[in-house]
Amino acid sequence: MTEAHPATPSAPPSLVDALQRPLRDLRISVTDRCNLRCTYCMPREVFGKSFVFLQRAELLSFEEITRVARLFVDLGVRKIRLSGGEPLLRHGVERLVEQLAGVRDADGRPVELAMTTNGTLLAARARSLKDAGLTRLTVSLDALDDGVFRSISDSGAAVGKVLEGIAAAQAAGLAPLKVNTVVKRGVNEGEILPLVRHFRHTGIVLRFIEFMDVGSTNGWRLDDVVSAQGILERIDREYPLRPLEPNYPGEVARRWEFADGGGEIGVIASVTQAFCHECSRLRLSTDGKLYTCLFAAEGTDLRAPLRAGEDDAQLRRRIADLWAGRTDRYSQLRRAATELPVRKIEMSYIGG
Ligand code: GTP
Ligand code: 5AD
Ligand code: SF4
Ligand code: SF4
Repeated sequence: MTEAHPATPSAPPSLVDALQRPLRDLRISVTDRCNLRCTYCMPREVFGKSFVFLQRAELLSFEEITRVARLFVDLGVRKIRLSGGEPLLRHGVERLVEQLAGVRDADGRPVELAMTTNGTLLAARARSLKDAGLTRLTVSLDALDDGVFRSISDSGAAVGKVLEGIAAAQAAGLAPLKVNTVVKRGVNEGEILPLVRHFRHTGIVLRFIEFMDVGSTNGWRLDDVVSAQGILERIDREYPLRPLEPNYPGEVARRWEFADGGGEIGVIASVTQAFCHECSRLRLSTDGKLYTCLFAAEGTDLRAPLRAGEDDAQLRRRIADLWAGRTDRYSQLRRAATELPVRKIEMSYIGG
């Protein structure tokens, strides 16, 4: 394992990868299932009735996830994000939140515990998630117009349900609350300004994400991407914006504020302004594989050694070795077609 120089004399030395990036952020997918079929993520032609999702015995149990999370925290992870698929479809996920909220670092501090959800099932769960110890929540919402929303999510779901979920999360004190909007050219560009108007002055941070070529099934074309620059220009024409400093090194979103005090927005420009040089994220799939990049073709299985009875030191060593050898920077190489993996892992399985 490679040790970086500590930032301050009291900070523990952190594990860094082959490009000197520390490991800070663990994203855990708790289910590969979802009740929506967003065309850019789980197109119905692929994820239809005959699609075979993971079986129960293949999923990491809450106890297994918590054990692994503890090892990650020992190795420097400070933020854990639960995702899916749709994480609220995992039965009793509040119990997992409770277990993870009990994990402490060497100084006795809890980790930051966040979740990304589509919000459709949130209204009745926001309070129990907060009570279980969830710190923050991000809700995906691509349109305010029901027709546009139904068409992107390829479902009968109603925007009103998601807005109810957002309101419940706000009332429960899950703050800062963020909303993620993936923008696809010709599909929901027209929703950018309505969403901005809706979430200004609410304290909710709306973030626009460039449509990405994750997975192998969403038919991605560069022409379908509306650049972060283009998105910002549209907003700035109506509501002038000023840049803000990042909250922390390696933050995925670039932050902006409305000049008139209407609050904050963000853009995630993973296609046009790659942020791999600061990427401190590792992903754990529902069935216990580790992925060092969102665009990886293959993962490293942790479930088999876990179930074979390896002790904590052995498992930590596996994780540390994997991170130490990490060279991923897919988004920076995107244009060099020869370096693209043949078949990338799907976002709904790896957790976004
Ligand atoms: P906070 O800053 O803690 O709120 O979280 P975050 O921005 O890491 O969380 P979120 O899950 O909301 O990330 C937003 C979206 O950015 C994801 O859903 C992905 O679409 C994209 N994204 C996040 N991490 C990566 C990454 O490592 N690489 C790429 N290319 N995209 C990412
Ligand atoms: N491009 C950009 N963002 C995506 N997400 C899912 N698929 C894509 C894609 N192809 C986003 C979702 C959600 C998060 C988990 O990832 O909208 O906010
Ligand atoms: Fe489900 Fe989120 Fe994927 Fe949409 S983007 S299909 S809500 S996991
Ligand atoms: Fe990190 Fe891979 Fe995304 Fe680059 S493309 S920011 S290395 S997950």
